[in-house]
Amino acid sequence: STPLCDAQVLFGATGDLAKKKIFPALQQLVRRGNLAVPVVGVARGGWDLERFRAHVRATLEQSEGFDEAACARLCELLRFVGGDYREADTFDRLCTTLGDAQRPLFYLAIAPSMFPTVVNGLGQLRCAKGGRVVVEKPFGRNLASAVELNQTLHAVFDESAIFRIDHYLGKEPVQNLLFFRFANSFLEPIWNRNYVDSVQITLAEAIDVAGRGLFYEEVGAIRDVVQNHLLQVVANLAMEPPVGSGSESLRDEKVKVFRAIRPLSGNSLVRGQYRGYRSEAGVAADSCVETFAAMQIHLDSWRWQGVPFFIRTGKQLALTATEVVVSLRPPPYEVFPEMLPTQANYLRFRLGPSEVAIAIGARVKRRGSENIGDDIELHVFNMHDDEMDAYERLIGDALKGDATLFARQDAVEAAWRIVDPVLDRKTLLSEYAPGSWGPAAADAMIAAYGGWRNPQASA
Ligand code: BG6
Repeated sequence: STPLCDAQVLFGATGDLAKKKIFPALQQLVRRGNLAVPVVGVARGGWDLERFRAHVRATLEQSEGFDEAACARLCELLRFVGGDYREADTFDRLCTTLGDAQRPLFYLAIAPSMFPTVVNGLGQLRCAKGGRVVVEKPFGRNLASAVELNQTLHAVFDESAIFRIDHYLGKEPVQNLLFFRFANSFLEPIWNRNYVDSVQITLAEAIDVAGRGLFYEEVGAIRDVVQNHLLQVVANLAMEPPVGSGSESLRDEKVKVFRAIRPLSGNSLVRGQYRGYRSEAGVAADSCVETFAAMQIHLDSWRWQGVPFFIRTGKQLALTATEVVVSLRPPPYEVFPEMLPTQANYLRFRLGPSEVAIAIGARVKRRGSENIGDDIELHVFNMHDDEMDAYERLIGDALKGDATLFARQDAVEAAWRIVDPVLDRKTLLSEYAPGSWGPAAADAMIAAYGGWRNPQASA
């Protein structure tokens, strides 16, 4: 098995990502006994170890799940190196601080524009060769820049040492999609074009761009969540069972799904923008960036040929929920004359935010003398998901060297190839009302397949 890392180095230690996601995850790792190596924060500006410790403690005290004992132990593990990423001296001091660590985990929680500088600096370190590097999405802005980014990382790190975080892959219910498919035998016979009519995936958010206007202007919905999170969900739904064990066999199957997906065209895409977006701070008054996208994806594969996969995401929608609905074909004919036009069976997977559920949509006879049906849901599974945060799982896996839940270079590039033709405002944009389910054009695209099944507010 791969050796454990013997230090964790965090670039961007005073930044937002560290504060929101990484420190809480580190605290949980310490709490469960999965982190006991030095954690070296690196950042620009005039901070020192005292200030860094106080910052980590203050951040955790204000966060959900604060744990006094784990926080205290984490603070003891902290080290700090302040300095400019462009200066060799910063990396010399990092080297001294790392002592005889052989296999550090370098987490780049910094702007992608700084990656070349930092990776170059790391290349000068003795211990970089045995180390691993963690990077966060965005993995580039399009196929060309993703290829370039991969070249930058490969100048110092082998692909096997690169851990690309897509936090959706760390979510328990997203992993359960795969588990549920392959740990049961009743699903496989129907999980194909012979029985499945269509698949729809909704990632809806009630929030607006929430103070991230400047960032969002550079990104838009397709780059922000479709190229990564939603295509990863498609991969889990559509992939073939992996052959053999180990992280690569699973990742091999995923990349095949991406390769089977036709590049998007303007005809199969609806872009929307919520009314009021243009007056958000940091947003251009004539912005054409999409805050909503709905699309139909075609998979040219033996299993899925002809089965449409519909994807929809947006900000300022009616509620916050991520859900998958796999609709099955209707029965061959209506056996009972009084049977109302039947709504076909479906499987529904609620992936969050807090509620997790798997349900089967079915039809049962209404009590009484007539053969009239009622639509019901058989709940296979229903619970609240608060066990392990995606970041805790992923950082723990990176420390152990398990790459299963990380995006591989070929998959990232194949996913960009799918969205590349429709990036950069090349297609029409429709306005939608805040609190709605997006522009009407998005409903038209799926009408022939029974329409969108909107997620319901959780109980
Ligand atoms: C992030 C996007 O990657 O994912 C955000 O940048 C989005 O815009 C978020 O809100 C959604 O993730 P989750 O875990 O809240 O569903």
